[in-house]
Amino acid sequence: MRTITMEELMNYAKNYGFVYQGSEIYGGLANTWDYGPLGVLLKQNIKTSWWKKFIQENRLNVGLDSSILLNPKTWEASGHIGGFSDPLIDCKACNTRHRADKLIEDASHGEIIADGWSNEQMVDYMTKHHITCPNCDSEDFTDIRQFNLMFKTSQGVIEDSHSDIYLRPETAQGIFLNFKNIQRSSRLKVPFGIGQVGKSFRNEITPGNFIFRTREFEQLELEFFCKPNTELEWFDYWKNYSFNFLKTLGINSKNIRMRDHKKAQLSHYSNATTDIEYHYAWGFDELWGIASRTDYDLKQHQTFSSQNLMYHDPDDNTKYLPYVIEPSLGVERLFLAILNEAYKDEILDDGETRINLQIAPFLAPYSVAVLPLIKKYHGDKAKEMFDFLSSNFSTTYDERGKIGKRYRRQDAIGTPFVLTVDDDGVRDEAFTLRERDSMEQITLKKDELIPYLNKKLQY
Ligand code: GAP
Repeated sequence: MRTITMEELMNYAKNYGFVYQGSEIYGGLANTWDYGPLGVLLKQNIKTSWWKKFIQENRLNVGLDSSILLNPKTWEASGHIGGFSDPLIDCKACNTRHRADKLIEDASHGEIIADGWSNEQMVDYMTKHHITCPNCDSEDFTDIRQFNLMFKTSQGVIEDSHSDIYLRPETAQGIFLNFKNIQRSSRLKVPFGIGQVGKSFRNEITPGNFIFRTREFEQLELEFFCKPNTELEWFDYWKNYSFNFLKTLGINSKNIRMRDHKKAQLSHYSNATTDIEYHYAWGFDELWGIASRTDYDLKQHQTFSSQNLMYHDPDDNTKYLPYVIEPSLGVERLFLAILNEAYKDEILDDGETRINLQIAPFLAPYSVAVLPLIKKYHGDKAKEMFDFLSSNFSTTYDERGKIGKRYRRQDAIGTPFVLTVDDDGVRDEAFTLRERDSMEQITLKKDELIPYLNKKLQY
């Protein structure tokens, strides 16, 4: 068994229908990706698993689906208009564009995190350490300019500065705006959390590494509101909760690490931040950000909206702005980690090779495939079985080619179970069910199938 390179993973994802380049027939649109028949199912399963773990199974949390377009004052209050920017620098020799903080981070092999440094600090560091352009090795750079990452658009029929609005760069702010509504309408007592899943947009300077850093992506965010001075306990709670969730998705713990931000690297509103990093093809990189955000966001929105967002605690009759813990995860980064983790090239006992996508059964795009052994004789019964199973499970049907090749294709896309319909199936409704990883086959009657599969597909 060997690990897959990024290029191989991209080819695999395209060839099997997980991810295609966006707008490909027009030559593409840089850094956009479309999710094909398998990709959309995997993405959906990732989102459903997160929702199940963070909302459905946690009695403290509820869900929300807020708008992508928010009142522009939101972004003034949150600090995004003033400060949501990356330090842009150009190489004068080859005209390539870079993020100065990333050049520093890469040159120091991740030892120095320049997040939050001033332009002067970064220029000083780059000059002193002779940091060069990764493209042409020149040290001749332009000055650093701060580049705001928000996508601006206009609302309404007249384009003027009053109609400027932004595509949200994070789903979090929609949660803060609804804090009071949700707390009141759901009669929630602190501590409680609000989670949401949705698209975010950032005009990244250096998108790349396939779907790792894109300009349009989906976030799975939880804002957890707690009493001041309890936040660091909750911070640990959510770090562990998130780490354990990754393990239930089949991510090997040796490929995950926690990187605590040092005091000097913390954002001005945060009193603790940890990144959960995954070992991607290029090394460890951020998968999930977990931040203790104090009462910064609620305080800012209270000031900018002139609305009272204080919480009245019935337990001790005090009033306060709750502190917030935020585990914030990108769907695509988890998608990439899951594919990377699951992809296996295997040599079988008979010397044949197969791709086996060893993905957790509940995440697999298809839970079960139905194959007639011989289309002519078993096709009708197999179609009947597809109808029977597909109302319960994500099911696919394949009648083309040799049975061995059809098994291989299902292995390659991670289908955990394959139901083969042969003469026994037609005659007695007895079916062979093949398990992907062990390739073992058992025989089950029609009425045993749904309970058996339900049990195996749980997590
Ligand atoms: N509300 C906090 C927040 O958005 P962040 O660290 O900027 O924090 C959180 O983003 C997560 O969103 C990241 O850990 C990553 O998983 C994902 N993410 C951020 N920018 C992304 C991008 N350009 N492409 C893909 N995923 C991204």
